[in-house]
Amino acid sequence: MMKFDSTHGLLKENINDYQEVVTKLHQVIHEKTGAGNDYLGWVDWPLTYDKEEFDRIVKLAKKLESKAKVILVCGIGGSYLGARAAAEMIQGLYPDNGHELVYVGNTFSSTYLQQVLNHIKGKSVILNVISKSGTTTETALAFRILKQYMEETYGKEECKERIIATTDKARGTLKALADKEGYETFVIPDDIGGRYSVVTPVGLVPLALAGIDIQAIMDGFLQAYNDLNTADLNENPAYRYAVSRRILQNQGYDVEMFVAYEPQLRMLSEWWKQLLGESEGKEGKGILPDSAIFSTDLHSLGQFVQEGKKVLFETVLTVEKPTYDGVVPSDEENLDKMNYLAGKSLDWVNKMAFEGTLEAHVETGKVPNLIINLEDMKEYSFGYLCYFFFIATAMTCYMLDINPFNQPGVEVYKKNMFRLLGKPE
Ligand code: PA5
Repeated sequence: MMKFDSTHGLLKENINDYQEVVTKLHQVIHEKTGAGNDYLGWVDWPLTYDKEEFDRIVKLAKKLESKAKVILVCGIGGSYLGARAAAEMIQGLYPDNGHELVYVGNTFSSTYLQQVLNHIKGKSVILNVISKSGTTTETALAFRILKQYMEETYGKEECKERIIATTDKARGTLKALADKEGYETFVIPDDIGGRYSVVTPVGLVPLALAGIDIQAIMDGFLQAYNDLNTADLNENPAYRYAVSRRILQNQGYDVEMFVAYEPQLRMLSEWWKQLLGESEGKEGKGILPDSAIFSTDLHSLGQFVQEGKKVLFETVLTVEKPTYDGVVPSDEENLDKMNYLAGKSLDWVNKMAFEGTLEAHVETGKVPNLIINLEDMKEYSFGYLCYFFFIATAMTCYMLDINPFNQPGVEVYKKNMFRLLGKPE
């Protein structure tokens, strides 16, 4: 399903030399004995997730199918990135199935919110607010404004159907508000942190509303759980990736650029950046996660990768089968001199760009490249990929003696902002 190739990684150590440490940490993860172990709910989530709640999500999506023309997804960070990464990967950037996902509550930008309000006017809207704490300011502020828009547009009674809250099962202001207003609620499990939560109602509710097959996501997630539940480095590509990162950082590379050749994977790289960055970037340690979409960014960042300071390695996500393909047409006049490609598939051209870039960056530029190969960009593959990166993140962080499941650093800006906003204690 997913292959990992380190042969272009310019690794100076042998991955298999880390078998002993990986075996020990595999046990730490699965027996939940490491730092942050109260947030390891995702490890056996493929087996333990609440099937009744899952069915309730599927039924809700069916019920709202004709009303969900615009689905406002109101959340930030772990309560936002996963759904967007999945939706764009699976449906592409211009889906035409009659559902449009619009993301709010992830910025304080006044212009953005006002434009969203203009954009949704006259359209049939469903609002899914997602917040574990219920107190995240970006989300709460946007929700207050959009809730008022919804009530003015549809009336309070219909809002009971059109507004859905995904939050803590018992605590928090959002849970209390949702119960009081009579909204349908879904639970964010206590033991799964934001950046590991896309396969919970956090991601599944908006994805189901957008017409995505969430059962196939869970099936892929389960398959990866089964395939990757081994400490054997010869059998576990996620652990080979985790170890390769550590080897490359030992060689002095402090930046990892996640590269994909499909624009519909741009948000997947944003999700990946949060997963790695928030899990690993603490105690003065970690690799800075960066990202690029090639060949687009070869015309901008490509120069630095090729000839700039040797601070980065690339992790390239290649995709076997594109969502759509096409053929280069021939042209009698050939004024653009492009007939040499006539009859070739567009995806083949993209793949040749990858091959040429790999050679340029590794052979000429001496930039290490790790390659992760994915079969396609469908639901099942997304589910599989999630577990792959979750387990790889846990392993790579534990190898660095880091708690992969907390994010103490994100509170600092909030404290200062609250002081400036005059928030009461
Ligand atoms: O990973 C995390 O914990 C964060 O990115 C949170 O998901 C984000 O801050 C949103 O938090 P909440 O769901 O409480 O609104």
